[in-house]
Amino acid sequence: MKPQEIRKNVYFLGVPHWERRLFDSLIPLPDGTSYNAYLVKGKNLTILIDTVEPAVARYLFQQLEMLRVDRIDYIVSQHTEQDHSGSIPMMLEKYPEATVLCSKKAFELLKIHLNLPEERLRVVEDGEIFDIGGKTLRFIYTPWVHWPETMCTYLEEERLLFTCDFFGSHLATYSVYASEDERTELAAKRYYAEIMAPFRSPIRNNLKKLDEIEIEMICPGHGPIHDVPARILDLYRTWSGDSLDNLTSVFYVSMHGSTVEAVDYLCDALVKRGVKVKRYDLVVSDLGEIAMALVDSASLVVAAPTVLNGLHPLAVEVVYLADRLRAKAKGLGAIISYGWGSMAQEQLKTLMPGFKEKWMRIITFRGFPSEDTFREVEELANEIAGLHEQLGIKL
Ligand code: FEO
Repeated sequence: MKPQEIRKNVYFLGVPHWERRLFDSLIPLPDGTSYNAYLVKGKNLTILIDTVEPAVARYLFQQLEMLRVDRIDYIVSQHTEQDHSGSIPMMLEKYPEATVLCSKKAFELLKIHLNLPEERLRVVEDGEIFDIGGKTLRFIYTPWVHWPETMCTYLEEERLLFTCDFFGSHLATYSVYASEDERTELAAKRYYAEIMAPFRSPIRNNLKKLDEIEIEMICPGHGPIHDVPARILDLYRTWSGDSLDNLTSVFYVSMHGSTVEAVDYLCDALVKRGVKVKRYDLVVSDLGEIAMALVDSASLVVAAPTVLNGLHPLAVEVVYLADRLRAKAKGLGAIISYGWGSMAQEQLKTLMPGFKEKWMRIITFRGFPSEDTFREVEELANEIAGLHEQLGIKL
């Protein structure tokens, strides 16, 4: 991609990573991803905001060459994770006069992760103003989106907010602006669900902090620029807020057809009671889809057979993630089948300490579900519908 001038002397240096299919060796990337750096040229100083994943750094260097940038005075490191900071060492080598500006917490993290020498680093304070000649940067600490050191940078004259991961989306695209690519909203939700969701409380605090400034565009470190910032800000308020949908997400895996029989029965019983249901066969489900379900669902059900006396490993993965991602659901039920013995119920509770107060019925049955099992499934459906009503969610 070529550099794009988004305001006078402010450039979007986006590097799509079309082929990347996994992030953190965990998160599926159906649409690839991108890493965005930004160049801001003042009358006195030239600033680079963030860098890119080292594997594709050459594309960032090419864009700087296209702009004939022969001097960078400061590199703002808004987040230490290596997909944004990993090319800083190369950048410091190419631009020997450059100093890295970072938050207090990032000062230590950049030394640890990138082995950067202290003399090339300078801490900026929360709210610090930085005059670069005709343009003014203000650094705004926005911790825990999604590391402790994260901060944003506000370009006052243009009312641009640079946010790195905050408001990002894993999306490789030729579109510079979100309004040009209709996939952005879904990609941003997926990103929020996979990466930001555990940090709802700091996110809400950071959103309040951002309410104090006027924003014309949000320039993230992944995905297109939000040229209608109110849209993504509203979505973040919803996702990080307390509202829940009249939705039960059912995560299930079945080996020989008995677990799925109970799942079918439950889903029908829920629908009959006016509860919306989304079901996820864990054999084929995408982790991002599951993470997104955790943002909206008022209740969850996990259904799995017993393997090696414990929970089926695909179910282990999903319940572990639901707990670590701090799913917003207020109730969780389970259906566990077994052949001769099972410790799956105990294991399930151990894997989900965050759900201690939220457990509903856990149904265990041996072999194929019996009439008694189906009666219990009916009871679970009643509990779920009752919970939704109690939460004030319209069925
Ligand atoms: Fe895009 Fe937390 O790195």
